[in-house]
Order: sequence, then structure tokens, then C-alpha cells
Amino acid sequence: MSIDYSEKIPNNVSLSDNRRLKRALEEWQPHFLDWWRELGPEGFQHHDVYLRTATSVDAQGWATFGYVKMPDYRWGIFLAEHGGDRRIGFGEHRGEPAWQEIPGEHRGTLRRLIVTQGDTEPASVEQQRHLGRTCPSLYDLRNLLQVNVEEGRHLWAMVYLLHAYFGRDGREEAEALLARRSGSADNPRILGAFNERTPDWLSFFMFTHFTDRDGKYQLASLAESGFDPLARTCRFMLTEEAHHLFVGEFGVGRVVARTCELMKQHNTDRVSEYGGIDLAIIQKYINFHYSVSLDLFGSELSTNAANYYSAGLKGRFKEPAHDDDHRLTESTRGVMKPEGELILEKEEPALLALNEALREEYIFDSERGVERWNKIIRNAGIDYALKLPHRAFRRAIGNFKEVNVTPNGEIVSAAKWQRREAEWLPTAAEREFVGSLMKPVTRPGQFASWIAPPPRGINHQPIDFEYVRLKE
Ligand SMILES: [Fe+2]
Ligand SMILES: [Fe+2]
Repeated sequence: MSIDYSEKIPNNVSLSDNRRLKRALEEWQPHFLDWWRELGPEGFQHHDVYLRTATSVDAQGWATFGYVKMPDYRWGIFLAEHGGDRRIGFGEHRGEPAWQEIPGEHRGTLRRLIVTQGDTEPASVEQQRHLGRTCPSLYDLRNLLQVNVEEGRHLWAMVYLLHAYFGRDGREEAEALLARRSGSADNPRILGAFNERTPDWLSFFMFTHFTDRDGKYQLASLAESGFDPLARTCRFMLTEEAHHLFVGEFGVGRVVARTCELMKQHNTDRVSEYGGIDLAIIQKYINFHYSVSLDLFGSELSTNAANYYSAGLKGRFKEPAHDDDHRLTESTRGVMKPEGELILEKEEPALLALNEALREEYIFDSERGVERWNKIIRNAGIDYALKLPHRAFRRAIGNFKEVNVTPNGEIVSAAKWQRREAEWLPTAAEREFVGSLMKPVTRPGQFASWIAPPPRGINHQPIDFEYVRLKE
């Protein structure tokens, strides 16, 4: 399905056939651009950036690469193609045709799901807006800005659904998505992790590795939705999300690689005086970002999640691959919870434990990333392994929010936990140190002292390609 770029709002949803919707979105567009100029990336708005833009929605060659000034980026509405007569794959309506319109009884719930997803998109742009000023290279700057414009597009994806299917309420929600602010005291973003600061590039890479990965799992389960326009929207968003995860995993990997290089060169595990970041500090950043991201999946047991599933609104990760009845009314699964000083696994109804099931998929996936970083360390001949903390570590939501758990999964007293906190989480001094390394490097092909160059450039371009033209 090709994308109509002759329109003011590029789209593949035949927007020109629906005058009312087209007008409403064209009215929202300048509000979006105002938000982008005010809260989008700080600086670089007038520079040419080597960005990719979607040209079609099929897996082969959906992107074109070229220099674009960010405010001219063609944010638009792209839905994955219809899968013929798609059927609902789970819940009480399993086997029925997927809905092209919203069933009245699920209107409020779907709106909340869409708004919650939509809110994370501009939030992350706000969180990352100042990072360009301290980019470790033009290559990384370009990747940051690519992630940012695509998060902006993800906002468009959700706003389209709100405008197209939720009438006046939807239009109000679309405005509210531009009004909330990450970290604001009066009008914060909806989810906790999206109000945290992203103070430095190590945090950015951790965020794109761990927090964007939560996004992948949320989008994947919404991509199973019985509400077909939502499913198709999320399916296309996932193709963009894959790049954000790449930026995170390879970003952290390059920091690790550089640290290992300095460790060998100077025969020390304290590389800070050589402009690197110790593996021990990297581990603390992992502990921080992973635990914040685990909370995004919600409580282990959730009647909301059960209702979303039974109603056919939100499925499981890769729903068709599950070898069961896709209703889950009879099955159970093990769920961890604290019992005194122990963490035990208890059988719970599978339907109630869907958040935990999704979190589990996420944990496996996150582990694979850590494994790849450890391979870099091993290949450097260094005896050290990064690891994910226990899933109960530092949780603010769910079964473990009242207990104090160490990264090894041991329940300890609050006093003991606080005494040891500095061993597990970045201290103010360490954050300050990492911050002190954040000096912009903007000469093509040059990289900051704390990060290795990537193995290859973007879209077959050389590593020293001028990914952002800083001269106006
Ligand atoms: Fe996104
Ligand atoms: Fe993302």
C-alpha cells in the first residue's frame, strides 16, 4: 500500500476521502509543530539531518534516506496492510471478524489504552531533547534525532486513532497529549518512567534498550487487538521501534567495548581517568533502567489486563504462537511473590497474570541483550559479566513494592537496603562523572573518549559520513 505524499499529511488511509477527519487532523498539525519546536530536540532544527522516512508499509524497502530539516519531516499516518479477513485471535470473541469500528462497550477502555501508549511518545522526545548538545558523534546525533522524529510519528499514529474513532473525546485527548509535560509537577506524563530525566547519553542508550523495549512488548500485544485499526497501526510502529532498540543495544555495547579497550590498554578496571566509564558504573545504570522499565508492565495480577484480554482488546506477545485455547479461563501460571523473607512462586489464574507473562517475555529479551554485551567483554579477554538484577529489585508497582530486594533477589530490611544502595545504583558522584564526559564531538568520523565507533554506518554510508550538516 503506497503512501500518498501529495497530501499535507502523508498517509495510506485515504484521508482525502474523509473531509471531516482530514480537516480535524490538519487543525491538530500546527499544534503538533508548535509542540515540536518548543519541546522537540533543542537545536538542530534548521540543520540537514540524514533521516529515513517511510515510503511504503511493506517489509521490503519501506524507508528512503536523505537530508531533511526536522520540522519538514513528513510525519504521517501509516497503517500496516489489511491481512485479508482478519479474525480476533483470543478472548471471548475469538474467531469473530476483527472490528473495523469500535464496539460501544469498549470505547472507554480502548481510549485509555491508546492514550496511555500515545503519551509515552512525546514524553520520550521531551526527556531526550537536550541530548543533542552533548552528542558523542554525528552518527549518534543522527540516531538520536531519528528516534525523536519517529517518536513524534508514533504520536501521530495514536492521534489518528483518537481523531478517527473517538469523536470529540478523541480530539480532546489529542490536545491533552500535547499539553502534558515529562517531569512536570502539575501536568506530568502518565507513566512513571516517562517522567524520569534522561540526563546523559549512557542513560539514553539504556532508555532505548530497556524502556523502548517495554514499548515493543506493549505495541506487540496491541498489534493483536481485535480492533483492527489499532492492530495495524501498532504493527507498523513496531518496524520503527526496532531501530530504537538497535540504537540502545549497540549504544551500550559500544560503551562497553570502549571500556574494555581502555581496561586492556591501561591494565586497570578503573578507566575513568582515561575518559571511559567503568563496567561497575554501567552495571548500576542497568540496575536503574531495568527496574524502572519492569514497572511499566504493571502489577503481576491485574483484573484490567484480564478484561482487556477477554474482551479481545489486548493480546499476548505473538498470540498465534501460543499453543493453548487463547481464552485462558482454565489455565494457571507461576507468579513470584514475597512470603516473609523468601520469594516464592505461586500458581495463579493465567488470565489474571497476563502482565507478568508479558514481563517474562521482556525479561528473556533483555537478557539476550546483556548476553551480547558480555560477549564483547569476553572477547576482550576480560573476566567480568554484566547482569540483570532480580525482577523484584527496586520495584514500585506490584507484588514487590513493599519489600526491599537486593539485585540478587534477597529480601532485606529497609535500613540494610539503604545502606547498600550506593553499591547498586549510580551515586550522585557517578552520575556527575558520567555527565562530565558528555562533551560534544561533531567532527565527522570522530567519537567521544567513552564510546567506540560503530562497526558500520547508516544505510551503507561510511562511518565518517556527515550525518548532520552543522554548517547552515
Ligand atoms: Fe514510540
Ligand atoms: Fe521508541
